[in-house]
Amino acid sequence: MKSVLKPHFRSLLLVCLVSTGSAWVQAGTQAEVFKSPSCGCCGKWIEHLQQNGFQVNTHEMNDVPAARKKLGMPDRLGSCHTARIGDYVIEGHVPAADIQRLLKEKPKALGLAVPSMPPGSPGMETAKPVPYETLLVQTDGNSRIFAKH
Ligand code: CU
Ligand code: CU
Repeated sequence: MKSVLKPHFRSLLLVCLVSTGSAWVQAGTQAEVFKSPSCGCCGKWIEHLQQNGFQVNTHEMNDVPAARKKLGMPDRLGSCHTARIGDYVIEGHVPAADIQRLLKEKPKALGLAVPSMPPGSPGMETAKPVPYETLLVQTDGNSRIFAKH
């Protein structure tokens, strides 16, 4: 009996390992980023996302505000680039950790925004960082503080 069960158990284990493996490959969350071709800090933010496991599709365009408007992010919260990750809109130099928290907590919201381009945010590295906030933005344009940095 033992000799029959053992190989069966081994093949079961193998199936588990294989399926876990493919799930892990798929875990890289897709990010659609809209930026102008000449934006340097946008490229650095994209690298920051990639280093944190996101799979980035970059869409180069001259009219980033039009893309922002289409995604529903208010202009006054605007930054240099805008992105779509999962069901959320991500505006500006938002830290990857905030996006991961958003995807985990899944609050009802349009997405996150770091308005303008605060020195010291991901992609805006500098020797003189300033404090900044990540905002949780609702579809009606209202926002509240999601994280302080
Ligand atoms: Cu920027
Ligand atoms: Cu940018």
